[in-house]
Amino acid sequence: MTNSSNTKLVDSWNREIDYLRIAVTDRCNLRCFYCMPAEGIDYLPKKELLSYEEIIRLATVFASLGVKKIRLTGGEPFLRKDFISLLRNLKRISGIEAVHITTNGVLTAPYLNQMKDIGVDGVNLSLDSLNRENFHKITRRNEFDTVMETLDGLTHHGFNTKINMVVMHGKNTHEVIGMAQLASDREISVRFIEEMPFNGSNMSTSQKNWSHMRILEELKGAFPSLKKLNSDPSNPASLYQVEGHVGNLGIIPAYSRTFCGACNRIRLTATGTIKNCLYDEGVLDIKALMRSNATDDQLREMLMETVQKREKDGFAAERNRKVDKNISESMSSIGG
Ligand code: GTP
Ligand code: 5AD
Ligand code: SF4
Repeated sequence: MTNSSNTKLVDSWNREIDYLRIAVTDRCNLRCFYCMPAEGIDYLPKKELLSYEEIIRLATVFASLGVKKIRLTGGEPFLRKDFISLLRNLKRISGIEAVHITTNGVLTAPYLNQMKDIGVDGVNLSLDSLNRENFHKITRRNEFDTVMETLDGLTHHGFNTKINMVVMHGKNTHEVIGMAQLASDREISVRFIEEMPFNGSNMSTSQKNWSHMRILEELKGAFPSLKKLNSDPSNPASLYQVEGHVGNLGIIPAYSRTFCGACNRIRLTATGTIKNCLYDEGVLDIKALMRSNATDDQLREMLMETVQKREKDGFAAERNRKVDKNISESMSSIGG
C-alpha cells in the first residue's frame, strides 16, 4: 500500500516519524554484559512474538502512514528462523525505501549473497573489541573470528557498513583508538556509543565516566586532523573524519540524548509493543489489537493517536515510566 492518502505520523512536537525499528526476536547467541546478565534473560514463548505475517502487516500499515525506512534488530535477528524471507518480503512493500539490519555478526556471513540479491540497504555490526580475549570477556562467548569474517564479508560485498562499539569504562576504553583505525582503509563508519542502562538488571553502567564529550576528546587527542562532518539531524551519530582515512567515525550520545529534538523513530518490540521512545516502557500493545481482529484502519488510527503521546525527549520519556522506574529491561527485547 502506498501512502496515497498522504496521512503521516506527525507528533505534537511536529516531528515526522518515518523510521520504524523492529526487534524480531529477544534471543541472542552472545551475552554482552551491557545488554544481558550472564545467565541470559527469560526468553519469550514463541506465541508472544509477532509472526512474520503480523510483522509484514504492520510494516505495510506503517508504510501507508509515511514510514520509509525499517531497521531490523533483536536480540540477534539471524536467530529467527528464515529471517531472509522476512527481509525479502519487507523489501517488496511499496513505500518502504530502505531496509537495514543491526546484527552481532555471528550467523550473518553465510547470508551475505542473499542479502545482496534482496537489496538490503545497510548493516550495522556490533563489535566492542578487536582483541580475542577482550571480546570474550565482554560477550562471554568465543565468536571473535566469526564476527571478523563477517566484517570482511560485508566490506567485500560492498554493503553500507557501520560498526557499533559500546564504550565501557575500563573494559574497552583502551581500544577506542584501535577501533577508530579500522576506518583508515575501509569505507565504513566506526561509531562509539555511550552505554545505556538496558542490561537486563538494575546494575549501574559506566556512562557517567565516558560521555560523548570524553570520547571526542580521546579521538581528537589521537587524530589532530579530526573534522566534523555534516549529517542528517535525525542521525543520532555525530560524524567525524580523520584526514586520509577512507571511512569515518561517529559518536552516539545514547545516554546524554542530545539528538531527541529531531527524532524520527518509532519502535516495535519483540513482543509486539510500540515504543514511542527507547526510554519509555511501551505505549501500545499492538499485538493484542491485531489478535483481537482490529482492521488496518483501526490500527492506523491507534498509531496516529499513540504518536501524539510522544514526549519531548528521552529524559521526559524516562521520567514518565510508571511500572519499571529503574530501567531493568534488556536491550535484546527492545532492539536498541
Ligand atoms: P541508523 O541511523 O539507521 O544507522 O541507526 P542507528 O545507528 O541509530 O542504529 P543501531 O541499531 O546501529 O544503534 C546504534 C546505537 O544507537 C545503539 O546503541 C542504539 O541503542 C542507539 N540508538 C538508536 N536509536 C536511538 C534512540 O532513538 N535514542 C537513543 N538514546 N539511542 C538510540
Ligand atoms: N547501551 C548502549 N548500546 C547498547 N547496545 C546494546 N545494549 C546497549 C547498552 N546497554 C547496542 C548494541 C547494538 C545496538 C542495537 O545497541 O551494541 O549494536
Ligand atoms: Fe546480543 Fe546484541 Fe545484546 Fe550483545 S548487545 S547480548 S549481541 S542483543
